[in-house]
Amino acid sequence: MTPDRPKEASARIALDGLCLTLEARPVLRDLDLDLRFRRLGVVGRNGSGKSTLARVIAGLVAPTTGTVRLNGHDLYNDRRAALGEVGILFQNPDHQIIFPTVLEEVAFGLGQLGSSKRKAEAGARETLARFDKAGWAEAPISALSQGQKHLVCLMAVAAMAPRTLILDEPFAGLDIPTRAQLRRYLALFPGAVIHISHAPEDLDDCDTMLWLDKGRIAMVGAGAEVNDAYLDEMARQGARDDISDLPG
Ligand SMILES: Nc1ncnc2c1ncn2[C@@H]1O[C@H](COP(=O)(O)OP(=O)(O)OP(=O)(O)O)[C@@H](O)[C@H]1O
Ligand SMILES: [Mg+2]
Repeated sequence: MTPDRPKEASARIALDGLCLTLEARPVLRDLDLDLRFRRLGVVGRNGSGKSTLARVIAGLVAPTTGTVRLNGHDLYNDRRAALGEVGILFQNPDHQIIFPTVLEEVAFGLGQLGSSKRKAEAGARETLARFDKAGWAEAPISALSQGQKHLVCLMAVAAMAPRTLILDEPFAGLDIPTRAQLRRYLALFPGAVIHISHAPEDLDDCDTMLWLDKGRIAMVGAGAEVNDAYLDEMARQGARDDISDLPG
């Protein structure tokens, strides 16, 4: 992590009347929130809007109405602030990767932050070494497995040391040792983390949790409390069969 940039352990998300309609469908509905957290877990059923909210918070998508701020910044309209403020790991690594080799992919963000090509490559090699993957530098990304690609994306985001990391299902597809490694890395990460996951055990270090249901906030609050309520409700819903229902 770059030592010359001040870190704040916590982050603040402020949503005010946030609505997002995609292809005439309301995906996020009237979200109001003012939250300070260090580790925020986001849960909710498939299609509840978690990944979409992550993109809106990162400033990649503009709300249809309402506002969203991360640490006071409107990141959609302030892309310069967004570079240092937030890093997002997409649920699907194929939506993230743009370069042919691991080193180029991990170095890219450092170049965006203003490092020379040489410095960016040195920083990228350092990050690879931190994850015990120095040997991956020259590897062609097309030859990697899906889980390995996921880890490349995570290393690329981690190299930039943003104040807030947004991770969308970061453990999906990773093997047990790599998950353990990633957990250790996240525990050491000095910034704030927004962690979207379907696995409650991945979120046990979250001080705060947000539960989304059909694009609305079902519950927000202390991690353990929300997790318990969410698991109870998921068990209740699991006893029914609504998998064939498409959201209205
Ligand atoms: N570009 C788009 N156009 C139209 N609808 C979209 C678009 N992107 C997402 N949606 C819809 O928005 C809803 C929320 O999607 P999102 O991917 O945010 O859910 P999620 O909570 O991340 O689900 P999962 O747990 O499966 O990852 C879904 O019903 C999805 O079909
Ligand atoms: Mg998702």
